[in-house]
Amino acid sequence: MKVLSIKALEAIKNKAESTLLLREQSNRETAECSCGLNTGTSKLQILICGGTGCKASSSQLIAENFKKVIAEKNMTAQVDVIITGCFGFCEKGPIVKIIPDNTFYVQVTPQDVDEIVGEHIINGKKLERLLYVDPNTEHTVSDSKHMAFYKKQVRIALQNCGFIDPENIDEYIARGGYFPLANYLLSKKPEQVTEVIKQSGLRGRGGGGFPTGLKWELAARQASETKFVVCNADEGDPGAFMDRSIMEGDPHSIIEAMALCGYAIGASKGLVYIRAEYPLAIQRLKVAIDQARTYGLLGERILETEFDFDIEIRYGAGAFVCGEETALIHSMEGKRGEPTLKPPFPAEQGYLGQPTTVNNVETLANVPVIMEKGADWFASIGTPKSKGTKVFALAGKINNVGLIEVPMGTTLREVIYEIGGGIKNGKKFKAVQTGGPSGGCLTEKHLDTPIDFDNLLAVGSMMGSGGMIVMDEDDCMVSVSRFYLDFTVEESCGKCTPCRIGNKRLLELLNKITDGRGTEKDLEALSTLGRVIKDTALCGLGQTSPNPVLSTLDNFYDEYLEHVHDKVCRAKQCKALLTYTINPELCIGCHLCAKHCPADAIVGTVRKPHTIIPDKCIKCGMCMARCKFNAISVC
Ligand SMILES: Cc1cc2nc3c(=O)[nH]c(=O)nc-3n(C[C@H](O)[C@H](O)[C@H](O)COP(=O)(O)O)c2cc1C
Repeated sequence: MKVLSIKALEAIKNKAESTLLLREQSNRETAECSCGLNTGTSKLQILICGGTGCKASSSQLIAENFKKVIAEKNMTAQVDVIITGCFGFCEKGPIVKIIPDNTFYVQVTPQDVDEIVGEHIINGKKLERLLYVDPNTEHTVSDSKHMAFYKKQVRIALQNCGFIDPENIDEYIARGGYFPLANYLLSKKPEQVTEVIKQSGLRGRGGGGFPTGLKWELAARQASETKFVVCNADEGDPGAFMDRSIMEGDPHSIIEAMALCGYAIGASKGLVYIRAEYPLAIQRLKVAIDQARTYGLLGERILETEFDFDIEIRYGAGAFVCGEETALIHSMEGKRGEPTLKPPFPAEQGYLGQPTTVNNVETLANVPVIMEKGADWFASIGTPKSKGTKVFALAGKINNVGLIEVPMGTTLREVIYEIGGGIKNGKKFKAVQTGGPSGGCLTEKHLDTPIDFDNLLAVGSMMGSGGMIVMDEDDCMVSVSRFYLDFTVEESCGKCTPCRIGNKRLLELLNKITDGRGTEKDLEALSTLGRVIKDTALCGLGQTSPNPVLSTLDNFYDEYLEHVHDKVCRAKQCKALLTYTINPELCIGCHLCAKHCPADAIVGTVRKPHTIIPDKCIKCGMCMARCKFNAISVC
């Protein structure tokens, strides 16, 4: 069925709107006590998170069970079962939401389905045991609006994630989707699209923060018959899942944004470069592209205009460097995924030598919303130089691991302590790493920094694409920087010497320090070499890879000193620096530790205190784990 006019688009919207209105309404105001079939509303809706995280915890089976039970009880005319994208609160997944009362069930299992249907849907009673318990008040909270995790969030890029069925184009249209494209194609000039994006102040969310409108303008200015729009969906940062979640939860927003960009710059071909390790995102994108083609929103003469635009998916093999835009283009051309010097910028000379805009998934997800709500609306959110919101994948030693979206200017403290619910197991906060493997580790003194592109750079880190990893007192900052450097050494393409050899030398120095062989001179070498690599590497990978080392040297120099002077790792992570001892007062000579020591490093006769032979001890910790009398300690 081809949608040939805005009227036809409106007809689809009208048809699907009532279902969506119910969801929107319940998101704004909660039906106080009425739930279940007796609410008198048109149809009940059961939304189940179908993001990768919840899917890994059986949310697909939960959805199938709901469908089965609803069918068995002849309630299909009264109840819809809908699989959505990510709700964000991954810590509490799988999540099931019931509309219209907006009840938010957490950590649901396939076995809970019968009870939810029986109690909630049929008897109209909320199931207390599956409601979220606020850790501060210890009261149950049934509506996400009242959860600290959601209160400070503002959803623009994620507005449809966890809200619509990503495999149903009608739901996207009912949310106003494809209307911005239709409006601009039918009544506005291409340069007006770029102007709105420029005025909005949108900056690229893929890491560089380059103004999106300027990039589009540069591409539009190129006098070429053939141009390309590329969506960078490579997302290689460890711990990051922002882009994946957007593609899984709202693929049509990316398609619409790419078409708008195509119209703006004069391109008729779009390419999504996505890593093959994202099978669900790929599947949802494929479904969405097919649906858009069927509706004539991709293809030739879109909405009976002269504008042709179609999208192809290209797969990446999971090399981090292929997320860098010039390497990405080479990879798509079938060449080695290596970067090249800029200029020329891809907007001038990109894929197949033609003008190409490369934009990140999250950047693109903002575009249709900006085109709908206007540049001023978007620019009214955020800080003077960083407009709008930022999506973060909040991970590490934090209570509420998940996907969040906050206005630029929100502080790190608000993110970690309010949205994130503080540090796991009551431990002490030590650092937060922003910006992925090339970011920096920030400390307590940076917690009140309002998050934006410039502020994070000013304190020695960066926004990056949105990974945010929280660390506690048990994390060794030397090991943390070694971990990230290990990653960048592994992922370096090897084209330039500073990155290929310099990072390897940095890693060797870090290994020396964590092995207990480091000296104060090595700390100087780390700092000098790190700065040289930053200044001389060819691409962003090398230029930023020493950041974790340099920022931890700046912020945790005392820990480095302890490693090289005192040969102590206070977080007890560096094996070589640990010493295991047996307290003779507590040891009863049960011999269990000696029995389990793989190195035969424990001696002693039965019923007499044992001892560890330091030279033989391999510091595996097996003895301590086995001792039933707390007689073994490590320092
Ligand atoms: C090593 C490296 C990896 C990168 N990986 C990604 C990525 O996975 N996704 C992304 O959008 N940008 C990535 N970038 C940034 C891209 O080069 C480019 O700036 C971005 O795709 C532009 O889109 P934006 O302006 O919308 O942010 C990476 C950069 C470097 C140096």
